[in-house]
Amino acid sequence: MAWHDDQARRDELYRDPYPLYDRARRTEGLMYVPEFDAWLVARDQDVREVLLRAEDFSSANALLPDVPLSEAALGVLPRGFGPRPTVVSSDGAAHRRHRAPLNRGLSAARVAALLPYARTCAEGLVDGFAADGSAELVEAYARRLPGMVVGRLIGLDPADVPAAVHGGYRAEELLFRPLSPQGQAAAAEDVVALQHLLDGYVRERRERPRDDMCSTMVAALAPGDGELTLEQRHELVTSLQNLLIAGFLTTSALIGTMLLHLLGDRRQWRTLRADPSLIPAAVEEAVRHDTAIQAFRRTTTRPVTLAGTKLPAAATVLVAYGSANRDERRYERAGEFDITRPGNRQHLAFGYGTHGCPGSQLARDQLRLTLDLFIRRMPELRLDRDRPQPRMRPTLIHRSPQALYVTW
Ligand code: HEM
Repeated sequence: MAWHDDQARRDELYRDPYPLYDRARRTEGLMYVPEFDAWLVARDQDVREVLLRAEDFSSANALLPDVPLSEAALGVLPRGFGPRPTVVSSDGAAHRRHRAPLNRGLSAARVAALLPYARTCAEGLVDGFAADGSAELVEAYARRLPGMVVGRLIGLDPADVPAAVHGGYRAEELLFRPLSPQGQAAAAEDVVALQHLLDGYVRERRERPRDDMCSTMVAALAPGDGELTLEQRHELVTSLQNLLIAGFLTTSALIGTMLLHLLGDRRQWRTLRADPSLIPAAVEEAVRHDTAIQAFRRTTTRPVTLAGTKLPAAATVLVAYGSANRDERRYERAGEFDITRPGNRQHLAFGYGTHGCPGSQLARDQLRLTLDLFIRRMPELRLDRDRPQPRMRPTLIHRSPQALYVTW
């Protein structure tokens, strides 16, 4: 019973962490939050400081699972690949090694080359429901487009994308949602299936490199052309799985949240429809106001003082980008969603410093093309008032509405 109460409390906090952030920003020093088992870094200035002091605040535990794994799941996972450190969870030289191929594969030119494909996919998805007059946009659109795009970036066959996307969501469930031991074992089976799918690509691209991110990562993380060792395959599969998940779950979540806020206040939608040149500003405001990745962790490498609070070595801090983005010291009316807000591009939704998001341009482009498309194809888009109010998923890492019923 106590466990269920704890879980319910945590879920409510995850669905709406903003009141807690407000209190933490007003508290002198850092606030310790037992539900997070961490010190909450809530102010814009303090978040920036942690992200810039990478030697003092390690990323090794940036993404700790929220739930312990059952024996049943632990029995399944060794049939797959990993876990190994990835770009998000490494520091210093190891981080630079992982980061280099991502910077190359997500360069401005590479992202620009992906856009025609992204537009075609987006148009195709809208063609599928445009004549219906109503839809549930999370399933029909938001959860689909980014998987197709990141699948193309990595070099997946489009026929493999649904399985890859499914595996990504199952990995998230396994690590971040409470499941029964059998439920965890079933999710672990799906994750193992995803890893074997990715391993097939890794080995194939070793043999026959192509112009895609999978080949770029194989060449960078396992230089040479001999057969890959098992250890190299473990590392490559873990890294590709990380890129896949970082690339689509975040963007899918943000498409849903962005549309929710634009349609929740129809004046914003009408303003945008009347002046589509506001699309980039609307995207920035959506990303600032209610971002997908609310927070990641850092661990102190030595005793440090932050915001006047003394922390010992090995202390955990939760770096809340979502709170920094509503810091009243940086933004007027910080809690309001306003697509005409000036100066909203300094937000921290994509992180900052060495671990700052290498996929931010790709994410922004997908958000922009979605708005451009929806304004053209469904200018009368509105929330379906006959359905219950949209409810947020209980997560700090892929914040989004559970469902978004709309009509037009
Ligand atoms: C709206 C969508 C997205 C949001 C809100 C987002 C947010 C973030 C944030 C906050 C970080 C920093 C993590 C840290 O400080 O430890 C990050 C890192 C990262 N993101 Fe994104 N991201 C998005 C889309 C993407 C896309 C489309 C890709 C790739 C296709 C991507 C790939 C990555 C990777 C690989 C990292 C780790 C970088 C490193 O540790 O050096 N993200 N992202």
